[in-house]
Amino acid sequence: MEGKTASTYNIRKFELKDLYQVISINRRCLPENYSEGFFVSLYRSFPETFIVAEKDGAVVGYIMCRIESGFSNISFTPFSISKKGHIISIAVLPEHQRKGLGQALIEKALENMVKFYNAKSCYLEVRVSNEPAIRLYKKIGFEVHTVIRGYYADGENAYVMIKKLQE
Ligand SMILES: CC(C)(COP(=O)(O)OP(=O)(O)OC[C@H]1O[C@@H](n2cnc3c(N)ncnc32)[C@H](O)[C@@H]1OP(=O)(O)O)[C@@H](O)C(=O)NCCC(=O)NCCS
Repeated sequence: MEGKTASTYNIRKFELKDLYQVISINRRCLPENYSEGFFVSLYRSFPETFIVAEKDGAVVGYIMCRIESGFSNISFTPFSISKKGHIISIAVLPEHQRKGLGQALIEKALENMVKFYNAKSCYLEVRVSNEPAIRLYKKIGFEVHTVIRGYYADGENAYVMIKKLQE
């Protein structure tokens, strides 16, 4: 499950010893913060899609996901019930951004959503002003599906972005 991006970065599954580093990255990089218990419960339920990027033994980025069952929100299969991956949170420390880690974290999570959980699609919410993240998601093949007005605590709207993973 381990894989190298550049020679010094390692993409691997989250382990409980990483918890406080992940919480610290989340608090530094995003206004949406969660309790310790929330991180741990997602890890226990969906360990294959909680991935970290590590450099010299330190965690520098993470992605945390949930697998949900429900009606597909992809228009060409509107009434079928299927598994959907949901990217809950992703962040890379500022000093390690633009090195391909965000992309590597998402690609590993998407691969594992299919391989371990048979997810048919993946979706996420993103602030409409978050250009770097929106560009990253589009580069990986996500498309804007809908807008949720006032989704964030400060009132900002969210795009829901979706990517089909398999038939
Ligand atoms: C969004 C985030 C995870 C991207 O991580 P990253 O490791 O820098 O992303 P990558 O290096 O893999 O970037 C891949 C592509 O995304 C796009 N991208 C990433 N950051 C960008 C930026 N600041 N400006 C423009 N495009 C950007 C580019 O297309 C980039 O490809 P390129 O470098 O070949 O041009 C990172 O900026 C971050 O942690 N932001 C704060 C937390 C956050 O907003 N999370 C998302 C919440 S929905």
